[in-house]
Amino acid sequence: MSFENQLIDWRRELHQNPELSLQEVATTARIRDWLQSAAITLLPYDLKTGAVAEVGQGDKVVALRADIDALPIEEATGLAYRSGNPGVMHACGHDIHTSVILGAALLLKAREAELPGRVRILFQPAEENFGGAKTLIRAGALEGISAIFGMHNEPGMPVGSFATRGGAFYANVDRFAIKVQGKGAHAARPHEGQDAILLASQLVSALQSVASREVNTLDSVVLSVTRIQGGNTWNVLPENVELEGTLRTHRTEVQERVRTRVSEIAAGFARAFNASIEVTWYAGPTALVNDPEWAAFATRVADDAGYQTSTAALHMGGEDFAVYLQQIPGAFVSIGSESRFGLHHPGFNPDERLIAPAARYFAALAEKALQHL
Ligand code: NI
Repeated sequence: MSFENQLIDWRRELHQNPELSLQEVATTARIRDWLQSAAITLLPYDLKTGAVAEVGQGDKVVALRADIDALPIEEATGLAYRSGNPGVMHACGHDIHTSVILGAALLLKAREAELPGRVRILFQPAEENFGGAKTLIRAGALEGISAIFGMHNEPGMPVGSFATRGGAFYANVDRFAIKVQGKGAHAARPHEGQDAILLASQLVSALQSVASREVNTLDSVVLSVTRIQGGNTWNVLPENVELEGTLRTHRTEVQERVRTRVSEIAAGFARAFNASIEVTWYAGPTALVNDPEWAAFATRVADDAGYQTSTAALHMGGEDFAVYLQQIPGAFVSIGSESRFGLHHPGFNPDERLIAPAARYFAALAEKALQHL
């Protein structure tokens, strides 16, 4: 079977058998099998799911990383190899990333004697819940690594295109929850209560002024209220309303300023309306910050490989790869996957023609990075 078809076969097998974060047991078994059948060394890290392999010899080490988990989405592509696990789907293309990095591992294995160092290959579990990178780091899988590289497929970009950027790329992700407590009352006698629904609605509008009026318009910021819940009938003013949402930023100063202003505005509303408002922040992944030199290096290698390269725009999503880049320099890159439906959509269907060229690219990138170190 050709290299291309082998990778597509593996991708389809992964696609048909998606598993959620930290439940990637069968996925891990497959990856280990495929690596072992190519005589690639598996490293004995203590991991419940995920796998780490290594190719080459010597002291210098660079890493390639793929994520392996799927999402709680019911697939609606109608493909012959669609998900066989109801309610679970590889809707972010981590099956693509895994097959690309498996392909790179095969190519590097074929050049093992020539490699001026080692390439550690990380198959990371649990990217979607932003816990997997920490799991691999705790297991010691990053020890000795001088540079790390990873990819995400980009459905909005054509196959054959490549983009990355030095510095901040993916966003800081914060989740917030707000509890508004007023005083319940008969809907016809609102003066006897404190209307939590009116207060929550005004708070939603006021929060929109933080991004639009208190942050420099040249800084990236998104503040979205995504859930509002309160009341259970038409003639009672409820006592409590809950809000939930997310904040996305690229600079820590902007993130801190918005967090502070949200809390101050909530406190001001609580005083003004004689209610109680509690704001809780849950920190997600920090911004993904590419090393400028490795980002430029990765782009040069992509140019040489025949990709149409460009500078990526800032991305408002989060990416667990950020955790590695806090410890080790490297670059995360976007590779075009040309899907009509976007990431996390039940119809997401990336173009498999990206897989083999991307595998060749990552093998070349790892080898050239070792030569460069
Ligand atoms: Ni993803």
